[in-house]
Amino acid sequence: MTAPSFDDVFGLRQEALRCPYDAYRVARRDDPVFWSDRLGAYVVTRYDDVVDVLRQPETFSSAEASGPRSVTPIAAKLVADPDTPPELRAQAERRLHVSKAAVLLNCDPPTHVRQRKLVNKGFTARRINGMADEIRRTAESLVDGFAADGRVELVSAFSVELPMTVIAELLGVPHDLHGTFKRWSDAFTAGTGNFDLDSAEVAAMFAAVDEFYDYFTEQISSRRAHPRDDLLTDVVTARIGGEEPLQLAEMLQMLVQFLVAGNETTTNLLTTIVYRLVTDAELMASVRRDPDLVEPLVEEVLRAESPVQGLFRRARQATTVGGVEIPEGGLLWLAYGSANRDHSAFPSGEDVLLDRTENQPHLAFGRGEHFCLGAGLARLEARIGIQTLLARLDDLALVGTAEDVRWLPNFVLHGISALPLTFRAR
Ligand code: HEM
Repeated sequence: MTAPSFDDVFGLRQEALRCPYDAYRVARRDDPVFWSDRLGAYVVTRYDDVVDVLRQPETFSSAEASGPRSVTPIAAKLVADPDTPPELRAQAERRLHVSKAAVLLNCDPPTHVRQRKLVNKGFTARRINGMADEIRRTAESLVDGFAADGRVELVSAFSVELPMTVIAELLGVPHDLHGTFKRWSDAFTAGTGNFDLDSAEVAAMFAAVDEFYDYFTEQISSRRAHPRDDLLTDVVTARIGGEEPLQLAEMLQMLVQFLVAGNETTTNLLTTIVYRLVTDAELMASVRRDPDLVEPLVEEVLRAESPVQGLFRRARQATTVGGVEIPEGGLLWLAYGSANRDHSAFPSGEDVLLDRTENQPHLAFGRGEHFCLGAGLARLEARIGIQTLLARLDDLALVGTAEDVRWLPNFVLHGISALPLTFRAR
């Protein structure tokens, strides 16, 4: 069988989703910046070129830099189509209004600088580190829920629940909404990194998105009336130097980013770390011997199996990247997952090496202006989550083989759909 190509990756072929890395390696060697018809973007695969783009936010914009088939263009098409049923049109219009709000991930300086200052206050090291005990308690109680069974499907029983509980806690919304949170989160990610949504999927997606907007619009007005010590109140009351407060659409869009950027990615990181451990006896033995190695393990899996495999930027003016001419308005896909395995930055980049030194910083959380707001939180959750699993469960083993494991049908968000395991509880 030939190694998967980029078309297989964008075509969501299982084998290519599990291991897009051959396609990346060949591109880095032969065609490091290339135009993809399928993606409608230039794909940038080398570490140095990706860093070069990230260093120039004034040339490479994050505004209007979503993929050609993501939710915003789908909504725009539905609004423009005279045959769209009225209810779906209303949902699409609302979605378009909110998603047009320039917020964090999809905006540029100076707006971005102002917003980032506002939200940094909600993610101080003090608040994040103050969550360690709560994260540990949550992880322990999730393990309590399945420890007696000797087997578990890790994604639904643990990897989804841990970040969801943590973000609900941080925002200050009730924990019993978790199932709903997951459904909302899935609705927002359905259109990312997937070209093939049918109309029923689009309708379900917009219905869930509407529920999210309704719920948080109400929560926002309740925080206005009754401020509390939580992130949602910070978002609602945020002002810097007498500047304007955030508009409702901006707040909603920000909450979408916390929900989606924060949950899906951390879920995928947790599952992928366990997958690497149960498919590599030597790696498992090393971290069992020395639990402090969980910290470099988290960094290495972030690098080698980046939960965000790539994101878009748009060229504001004609320019070049890696010697390739990019026209004004040209879309670029920065393949973080490829850059993170580039041997020029990471010798033996395909291996998870717990004693890796003299690394360049990896790009799993991006770099520069848009560096992940939740990186500290994600690292903390991953470290505590994995340490808890290892402390409580012996003889962790995969049910079936690595080839049986299904990967998410998404080329941006890299992760596993279900990970069935057996174990012996301590
Ligand atoms: C393993 C977990 C995570 C990964 C791999 C990840 C990855 C990323 C990446 C690659 C970016 C940069 C985007 C760009 O270059 O345009 C980013 C930005 C962001 N992340 Fe994360 N993230 C994770 C967890 C979280 C968490 C837990 C939160 C918050 C609750 C969060 C919130 C955000 C936000 C708000 C941004 C936008 C920042 C900005 O544009 O200024 N992320 N993340």
